[in-house]
Amino acid sequence: MLTLLKLLRDGRFHSGQALGAALGVSRSAIWKQLQHLESDLNLSIHKVRGRGYQLAAPLELLEQDQLAASPWPVSIHHSLDSTNAEALRAVDRGVTAPFVVLAERQTAGRGRRGRKWVSPFAENIYYSLVLRMDGGMRQLEGLSLVVGLAVLNALRDVGVSGVGLKWPNDVLVGNKKIAGILLELVGDPADVCHVVLGIGINVNMRVASEVDQAWTSVFLESGAAVNRNVLVSRLNDSLLMYLKRHEVSGFSAIQAEWEQNHLWQGREVSLIAGVHRVDGTVLGIDQQGALRMRVEGEEKVFSGGELSLRLRHDS
Ligand code: BTN
Repeated sequence: MLTLLKLLRDGRFHSGQALGAALGVSRSAIWKQLQHLESDLNLSIHKVRGRGYQLAAPLELLEQDQLAASPWPVSIHHSLDSTNAEALRAVDRGVTAPFVVLAERQTAGRGRRGRKWVSPFAENIYYSLVLRMDGGMRQLEGLSLVVGLAVLNALRDVGVSGVGLKWPNDVLVGNKKIAGILLELVGDPADVCHVVLGIGINVNMRVASEVDQAWTSVFLESGAAVNRNVLVSRLNDSLLMYLKRHEVSGFSAIQAEWEQNHLWQGREVSLIAGVHRVDGTVLGIDQQGALRMRVEGEEKVFSGGELSLRLRHDS
């Protein structure tokens, strides 16, 4: 199916006979594969008698040779349950970190707090970078916030304006989410462990009725389709730079820059942890990346992957 897709991706007409000859299969086998492309990948294909088949729009796929020299080995998959899940399986198989897993689509993309990450084919970026950590807890401090800053800068690099962060690691334009980050860890965080930095960026997505929160995409913000190979290359460069700074100088060296990009500094918020809720004002973050809030006149500090923030009274 992938070979057929590669033949069709130029957006031109191809006759059933030519496609069959290229793949060494019958015209009816081509017909069946085309139906799979439409139903499985949600692609629209024009079928015109006498001319053949044409994708409704040309398709730009992720390609090794179009990624600028990557600092880490990258594997590109046509379809995965989740790039984070595949990254964890690779760690289990003994693949040496660091490495990156990319997919054109995810059938069970994972979001924070058990949510699903909507991952249609060839529209967005689904990216997992695996790092081996042997420096104890200090190396993990603020890591997910650092990744947020790296994603934000990659988006600015491709021309998205008005982009900012929401603690702990949502990347937003206004109140709409453009990228999400999910860190997963295996091993002993106090000794040797592997951490998967899972990043989802909405790139060329225009409609997605299944997304259950306010969202946007690079296309919707900039009005132009973005080459995902270029954005992955920018993301690699940005991550490399921020992760190096974090490793060398620790999170405290990044804290001020993170706060400058925090959209909700000084805002009235509710912090939600399951059924519990704490109301207060955002003061900022501490040197470990924990959230500082004023609650009933006192400063309190909160951390943990299951927490999330909401604005109160449209403050
Ligand atoms: C969030 O809920 O904000 C986090 C979303 C993280 C999505 C990315 S897509 C690539 C990687 N693989 C996954 O299954 N999830 C992360």
